[in-house]
Amino acid sequence: MSAPAKKPIALVDYHPPNGDITQEVLAGLAQPQKRLSPKWFYDEKGSQLFDRITRLPEYYPTRTELGILHTHIAEMADMIGSCAAIVEFGAGSSVKIRILLDNLETPSAFIPVDISGEHLLDATRQLATDYPDLEILPVCADFTQPFDLPVPAATVNRNLVFFPGSTIGNFSLEQARQLLKVMAIEAGPGGGLLIGVDLKKDRATLESAYNDEAGVTAAFNLNLLVRLNREIGADFDLDQFAHRAIYDEDKGRIEMHLVSAKDQSVNIAGRRIDFAAGEYILTECSHKYELQEFADLAAEAGFNIRKVWTDPERMFSVQYLEVG
Ligand code: AVJ
Repeated sequence: MSAPAKKPIALVDYHPPNGDITQEVLAGLAQPQKRLSPKWFYDEKGSQLFDRITRLPEYYPTRTELGILHTHIAEMADMIGSCAAIVEFGAGSSVKIRILLDNLETPSAFIPVDISGEHLLDATRQLATDYPDLEILPVCADFTQPFDLPVPAATVNRNLVFFPGSTIGNFSLEQARQLLKVMAIEAGPGGGLLIGVDLKKDRATLESAYNDEAGVTAAFNLNLLVRLNREIGADFDLDQFAHRAIYDEDKGRIEMHLVSAKDQSVNIAGRRIDFAAGEYILTECSHKYELQEFADLAAEAGFNIRKVWTDPERMFSVQYLEVG
């Protein structure tokens, strides 16, 4: 049998402004609380390190979420129904989308949305081969603002936005509310959202998930400086910054820091940035939710929570929400 002809994948490209990494980094480091966006973590090395994080014994979110998905996928598929167009915010690891695709009744299309066109095409190539009958309509866009979805060829009963991994935790409450509003717009009337939300728990469990014994999370955090040294000609001394992750209970979030070991200066693109001993760069916030807190936030964005699934220890949740 000859291989079926591959249909080309049509990319809808809204040309989101790339953002100049040098300018953004300098602006972040010029603030009273120096900060860098977690979006810079994911260069090739960073993506590999994150992959290792998801398999660490201390890092419970990925395996717990996968467990919840596997255990309850039949009920999820029932609630979502047939002929759904799946809109994934951020083209992530394909493991989770495959669980959906393998269990939903005749999904009408898969619409991954990502700010990086390259990342998007990488993520869809293998899926296109493995699901030859599925219409794949990637959209290159900044999903923090509303955008038009491509219209699938097949009939669509509802749009299902998929946002696993507790990526919502990376956003402040303000930003999370705004993002949920965009998701409600994209889902449209009668549309749904299947979202992974990490839950509040004891400090020890949270802090060890971000301070693993093997030091993979430390390497992941420090790789940000490696990247800046390579890509924008910074001269961070990697031996003079240390990884730290702490749970801020008042803010309900894990914060990842890079702590300066001494008074020192760093040069980036002809500018000097001074660090005092003990001063730190805030590199990531990972918000944890009480179920009720998240329900309130979702309601403010126009969603009703239809069902919340958790693991027996209530570490993590997967939630199905509907618009209206
Ligand atoms: C991908 C944002 C969900 O916050 O747990 C893991 C990223 N950072 N370990 C998280 C992360 C350090 C992760 N998210």
